[in-house]
Amino acid sequence: MAAPIVDSEYLKEIEQARRDLRALMSSKNCAPLMLRLAWHDAGTYDAKTKTGGPNGSIRNEKEYKHEANNGLKIAIDLMEEIKAKHPKLTYADLYQLAGVVAVEITGGPTIDFVSGRKDSTESPEEGRLPDAKKGATHLRDVFYRMGLSDMEIVALSGGHTLGKAHRDRSGFEGAWTKEPLKFDNSYFKELLNENSEVLKLPTDKALVEDPKFRSYVERYAKDEDAFFTDYAAAHKKLSELGFTPAFKAAKFTLRAQSAVGVAIVAAMVILSYYYEVHKRLK
Ligand code: HEM
Repeated sequence: MAAPIVDSEYLKEIEQARRDLRALMSSKNCAPLMLRLAWHDAGTYDAKTKTGGPNGSIRNEKEYKHEANNGLKIAIDLMEEIKAKHPKLTYADLYQLAGVVAVEITGGPTIDFVSGRKDSTESPEEGRLPDAKKGATHLRDVFYRMGLSDMEIVALSGGHTLGKAHRDRSGFEGAWTKEPLKFDNSYFKELLNENSEVLKLPTDKALVEDPKFRSYVERYAKDEDAFFTDYAAAHKKLSELGFTPAFKAAKFTLRAQSAVGVAIVAAMVILSYYYEVHKRLK
């Protein structure tokens, strides 16, 4: 599908959708589910084949029926209300905007949002999202495939500061923190507290067992500002996997054009120099 034209009208709709999303999430208390929707749409990205990623494909029946996406049909249906009010906006942009709004309205950092993502009707094969029953090697396999680093794995896992697991969706039950509607660094504090009784998935535990991951967990547990800064940057990156914002593309074309311009001028200078030398030698 073609990329949307991001003009002033489009940006105005984005701001209106942002307000509608805030209202929807406050009235339905569904910020955590919306964050999970945004992450699961983006988290299928494969940097090698440049497939998957934040392209709205999670709305395809084939994809939302993947086991890892259990429960997300609820979020997809809720997002239809917003799409109906803002048909011009792509699903891909709307889902990522929802992720950004979810973090902001629960007290998390402000995340820079750039619009212009294309929608896709193609869905990746099942199995690209992480399996909660596995460990550090699996986490690295999945996140490195997306082009993300150890620091980004730990920072993004902090998304579990929000929400809870539901037995009928994932087989796990319970929240990771005592205030699952508040975005803060308590997820990391709980991870380091061996006596805490909150939910810890095998993949959460891997973050304290692996020494490299653990160093970030300790940092974020101690310093919420550091967590917010790294989280906001990692979330933005996740939300833009495989997407080149139009202004960046334009800047690149402009730079490429000026490089070609410089090369032509240089060639002309060299040629006229040789021409002069040649003339003098005659
Ligand atoms: C690191 C690998 C990850 C694994 C294995 C994982 C796994 C899970 C599982 C099993 C659930 C419970 C689903 C349910 O039963 O309803 C869940 C929920 C959730 N995940 Fe993750 N997740 C991961 C990373 C992330 C990331 C990167 C984010 C966001 C940045 C995120 C945000 C959430 C949220 C907000 C929920 C709660 C949803 C709700 O309350 O309905 N997760 N995750």
